[in-house]
Amino acid sequence: MESKGSRPKQPDWLAEVCQESSIHGMPYIARKDLHWTERILWALIILGSAYYAISSCLNQWYRFRDNPLVYEYEYLFGLRIFPFVGITLCPTYHDETVIPRLINETWGLDASKDKEKAAYYRKFLLAINALRYSTLETLEPFENDTTLDNVNYLNILLTLQKKIISVKNPAELAPIITEVGLCQTSSQLTRYGNPYGKLETLDVEPMKQCGYFSNCITSLKPLNSIVAPIYMYVHDVEEMMLPTTCELPIGMRKTSNPMISMLC
Ligand SMILES: *[C@@H]1O[C@H](CO)[C@@H](O)[C@H](O)[C@H]1NC(C)=O
Ligand SMILES: *[C@@H]1O[C@H](CO)[C@@H](O)[C@H](O)[C@H]1NC(C)=O
Repeated sequence: MESKGSRPKQPDWLAEVCQESSIHGMPYIARKDLHWTERILWALIILGSAYYAISSCLNQWYRFRDNPLVYEYEYLFGLRIFPFVGITLCPTYHDETVIPRLINETWGLDASKDKEKAAYYRKFLLAINALRYSTLETLEPFENDTTLDNVNYLNILLTLQKKIISVKNPAELAPIITEVGLCQTSSQLTRYGNPYGKLETLDVEPMKQCGYFSNCITSLKPLNSIVAPIYMYVHDVEEMMLPTTCELPIGMRKTSNPMISMLC
C-alpha cells in the first residue's frame, strides 16, 4: 500500500485537466518528469495548432459569407461522373449610348430635336429592358400608345445589351428569354427559350462532366469588363432556369474585370 502524505494536498486542477484531455500533447504539459523547455515546447505546439484550427474554421465561415455558392450533387452509389450545373446570368444593364440611335431607327425621331418625346421613348426602352414577370405593371403608362405596337422588341433588347452579350465563337452562353427578361445561359435546352422566336437550339458550351473526386470549377467572364449588377441562377444543365432556382445577386463589383468564379 502506498503511504499518503501527512499534509492534505490541494488537487492540481490544471494538471488533472491536462492529463485527462484528449487533445494531442496536453498530457505532456502536465508531466513533471519532463524538462520545462520541453513542456513549453508542447504548449507552443498546442497554441499554434489551436490558432490554425480556429483560423481555418473562420476562413470557411468567411468563404461561406462572401461567396455563398455551394453546389451539392446528391451522390448515388456507383455514380462516377455527373454533369456540371447550368448557369443563367441575367444582367441588369443597358447601354445608354445606343438609345438615341434606337429611337431614331424605331420611331424615326431625332432625339436631339424632340427631347420630351425622346425621354418618353427612352423610358419605354428602359421599361422593356428591365421587364420581368413580376414588373409587368411598368408597361401601364404605355398601354394606349399605338406607336409602340409592331416594334421589334428583341432587337431592342439585343441592342441595349449588346456589350454584355458573349460573342465568343464557339459560344459559351446563349441568349435566352426568361421570366426575368433577356439572359445568357449555358442550359442545354436553349431551343425552348430561344429569343429569336424559333424552336432551334443555339450554340452553348457542351455539357461538362465532373468526376466524383475532382473539383469542377468554372469561371465566367461574360461582361466584357463592364461593371453591372447581374443575377446568377444555378440549375441543372438540362433544365431551364426558373427564378426560384437559386438566385444570387452579384452586386456591383469594383474591379475592372468582374469575374464570377465558382467552386463546387
Ligand atoms: C436618323 O436616321 C437617319 C437615317 O435613317 C439619319 O439620316 C439621321 O441623321 C439620323 N438622326 C440621328 C439624330 O441620328
Ligand atoms: C388608356 O385608355 C383607357 C380607355 O380609354 C383609359 O381608361 C386608360 O386610363 C388609358 N391609359 C393611359 C395610361 O392613358
